[in-house]
Amino acid sequence: MDMDAIIDALGGATQVQTLLGVGPSAVSNYRARGQFPEYARVRIWQALKARGVTVDPETLAFADKISTNDANTGQHSPHPKIIPKSPQILLIISGGIAAYKSLELIRRIKDKGWQVRCIMTASAEQFITPLSVSALSGETTYTQLFSLTDEAEMGHIRLAREADAIVVAPATANIMAKAAYGLADDLASTVLLASDAPLLMAPAMNPFMWAHPATQANQRQLHMRGVRFIGPDSGDMACGEDGAGRLADIPVIIDAIDRILPGQGALNGMTALVTSGPTHEPIDRVRYIANRSSGKQGHAIATALARQGAKVTLISGPVDIPPPAGVHVVAVETARQMHTAALAAMPADIAVCAAAVGDFSVADAANHKIKKTGDNDAPSLTLRQNPDILATIAAHQMRPRLVIGFAAETDDVINYATAKRLRKKADWILANDVGQNDKPVFGSEHNMVHLVTEYGVEPWPEMSKHDLADQLVKRIAKDLTAKEISV
Ligand code: C5P
Repeated sequence: MDMDAIIDALGGATQVQTLLGVGPSAVSNYRARGQFPEYARVRIWQALKARGVTVDPETLAFADKISTNDANTGQHSPHPKIIPKSPQILLIISGGIAAYKSLELIRRIKDKGWQVRCIMTASAEQFITPLSVSALSGETTYTQLFSLTDEAEMGHIRLAREADAIVVAPATANIMAKAAYGLADDLASTVLLASDAPLLMAPAMNPFMWAHPATQANQRQLHMRGVRFIGPDSGDMACGEDGAGRLADIPVIIDAIDRILPGQGALNGMTALVTSGPTHEPIDRVRYIANRSSGKQGHAIATALARQGAKVTLISGPVDIPPPAGVHVVAVETARQMHTAALAAMPADIAVCAAAVGDFSVADAANHKIKKTGDNDAPSLTLRQNPDILATIAAHQMRPRLVIGFAAETDDVINYATAKRLRKKADWILANDVGQNDKPVFGSEHNMVHLVTEYGVEPWPEMSKHDLADQLVKRIAKDLTAKEISV
């Protein structure tokens, strides 16, 4: 393991300290010993991967080329420079009439200078042959999970690990369903389950199959976990019907791949902390005070930030939804735990406080179950105020560059939200009306907000919580990088 090169590639000793949560002497010790502790390997491997540098996760040996000559002077340099290899795309071709278009996709991927390995499902082989795919990719095309030849050449776990991004094009309703449910009964679905690489799906199918509630639910489920989708487009279909179901155009798929590759996002190199979900404030050993927050909005924001390359710490209260891919999740129960975890996640460039933090906790929660003592008897609870996480972060000496909060109000939404922005010293507040009985926000898939900034109040149309997260991240990127991004 080349310690100096790894530390350089991670951005220096201070970055390594922050990454591993250790002091300077620990890093000097690792250097002297010539190795990192066992527990740190995965974190280092992931951090290097996020910077576009591939190392073996077991040994931390570089897969990339290391140059000891300075590129400018040609002189031998004591600190080797890592020349990142070109991105490795794993293309999964599933079986649909649009499979033939993946041949063109492979050519365009190669034109970008990216490497591409392909997996074909059994039904894809009904439309095109592995031979033509290999001829264009220049690599073996993998088709079998239990083939000695395929496994001997490249185990399915290695196929999954070595991919910088996975693209499923065309993605059939079947492979979407398998991915949504975590089935692993062939090579393609097993690799999808064994990888945490950014995943892009380009669906192509009959318009009825696309519109079916099952396919729509699977897409939402996958989207919630951080999977990106491109298309389908609308138009005439090969099956003779008309509607949404055509594979997106190849140049559009290429642009979408470009955006999911690590190190390509607008927030690349930035850190973000997001709070999400409710808090549980114990009354005694079995009871607690909680609220109706589902965590959907906060989790969607964490996912969208990570997709744009930010390193995200998601501090989540107890929720029933899966942790988003590519995000470091800290699970907490109480407001005080959330407060401590949020401060531990600083410094950060961006803070989004989407959690519905309990305002009060029980002053001295009982260590046992409180018993009824008589027929008409009820204990009194003394409440104390919880720390305000958003206000603490906004007033902190390491204040993030952008501090964003939510204001869930039942009346006079804009005035309360405007006052809240000033009182809590947040940069932006997303205000939503939770008082409309016919439109519940808690637990719903949709949200409608006003964005309150120092420049005024912007009404945003009703949209899904995922779209809202994407729009918010678009605004964040514009604010912090002055760049427009497409999401
Ligand atoms: O004061 P209120 O609870 O209405 O403020 C809502 C905003 O403040 C949300 O962004 C929420 O995450 C944040 N908050 C917090 N800590 C608290 C209470 C609210 O971070 N204790």
